[in-house]
Amino acid sequence: MAGNNRKFFVGGNWKMNGSKDSINEICGWLTAGDTADTDVVVGPPTAYLGYVQEKLAGSGVYAAAQNCYKVPKGAFTGEISPAMIKDIGCEWVILGHSERRNVFGETDELIAEKIEHALGEGLKVIACIGEKLEEREAGKTEEVVFRQTKAFKDKVKDWSKVVLAYEPVWAIGTGKVATPQQAQEVHARLRTWLSENVSPAVANSLRIIYGGSVSASNCNDLATQGDIDGFLVGGTSLKPDFVEIINARKA
Ligand code: PGA
Repeated sequence: MAGNNRKFFVGGNWKMNGSKDSINEICGWLTAGDTADTDVVVGPPTAYLGYVQEKLAGSGVYAAAQNCYKVPKGAFTGEISPAMIKDIGCEWVILGHSERRNVFGETDELIAEKIEHALGEGLKVIACIGEKLEEREAGKTEEVVFRQTKAFKDKVKDWSKVVLAYEPVWAIGTGKVATPQQAQEVHARLRTWLSENVSPAVANSLRIIYGGSVSASNCNDLATQGDIDGFLVGGTSLKPDFVEIINARKA
């Protein structure tokens, strides 16, 4: 969809990586880098969320929680709530990441409930979807990503606080990036689905970002695709190359 006003968005998902020392380094090059034309959000492990939030304050780069639960408080050992994320000044949360789905067994329904609660509490959400290799090989990519997005649709009232991350599971952490054509095809189909099932306005304004082995060497070609509005980056978000990905549109 050419001629859109969607601002480029790049998220960094640090997963369960980092220490105070490595985070000091990352925040150093991140805040020194050119991030002006892109919305940039990084997700540290929960233990460091407040630390990173304070380090990035005023820099124009924002911190995100990697997960949260679906109620404000209570007897849910090990969980954190959107209210807590907001309380430390953080505005973003990543929900539905494939590792939450596939390692920790989170269902479409639970993820949608978490998104509903997080949005209701005033957070912004990076909502993740994506098919596994066997689903792609069985020709089920669309069926899977439409089903995952439909679960969100049933709970989301205001899409302006959502960024949709398409991350094919076979591309995550494997070094096997989707080709620009493969990613663009799914993004375009998602936009059509959103137009038909949510509204043309949401389809046109929602940022759909790609994730899965994005690197400094493949980001420029991906960024030229009309329906790819940015990236969700894992491994490379821990390295200075991340700044090149943030500026992929400028190259
Ligand atoms: P990767 O991870 O960039 O290391 O493939 C992407 C993600 O899990 O968001």
